[in-house]
Amino acid sequence: MRRIKIAPSILSADPARMGEVLSVLDDCKDVDLLHIDIMDGHFVPNLTFGPHVVRAMRKYTKKEFYVHLMLTNPSIFIKPFAEAGANLISVHVECMENLSTLFEKIKAAGVKAGIALNPNTPAHVVEPYIQNVEEIVVMSVYPGFGGQKFIESVLPKINEIRKIVEKSKREIDIAVDGGINASTAPPAVRNGANLLISGNGIFVEGHPDTTRIRELRKSVEGPR
Ligand code: DX5
Ligand code: ZN
Repeated sequence: MRRIKIAPSILSADPARMGEVLSVLDDCKDVDLLHIDIMDGHFVPNLTFGPHVVRAMRKYTKKEFYVHLMLTNPSIFIKPFAEAGANLISVHVECMENLSTLFEKIKAAGVKAGIALNPNTPAHVVEPYIQNVEEIVVMSVYPGFGGQKFIESVLPKINEIRKIVEKSKREIDIAVDGGINASTAPPAVRNGANLLISGNGIFVEGHPDTTRIRELRKSVEGPR
């Protein structure tokens, strides 16, 4: 069975208690990596964290940082986020810059690369970049905010992407981001996702609930 990875989305964390939140997540063995949403107020109608916040967070945990750039012009931010401690950086296929150049920059910065697709973007757009990425992120909400409802119509797209990945014979994680909880994760995994990003599904009032994280894992792996 494919190993399922869980990435809590710290957008749902109480920013004033971030150190405490990160320490809890660092101790939780069901957490594989931490998902950090970066928004520019232009690609999406919201603002979040800059590289200095990521650098400050790095001191509280050894878990890998997965930085999801929701930026119209991500190129100038790749090196700063890599230097701040990102292990994986994803850019949106819908951004306004040349994707091949962005993936070269991500490689040059010494981190893994991901490509993110908005809900209406078709699966085949990943094909030209399949050799450049370690991760493909299927958005199951319109990006910008946590706590939205999972869009079920993305399930066939996850399935198509799994087929494209298998054909490539590359080790690529397929992530699903938005509205993921113990009810929506099983169909996403059945369709080929192996990296579950979850914010509101596992945070309660800004604090991670490790029981919910365990339940999320159980929902896709069965009781252990
Ligand atoms: C949406 C973000 C997601 C979000 C997920 O723009 O990219 O990562 O934080 O949060 P939930 O799980 O609450 O939908
Ligand atoms: Zn995200």
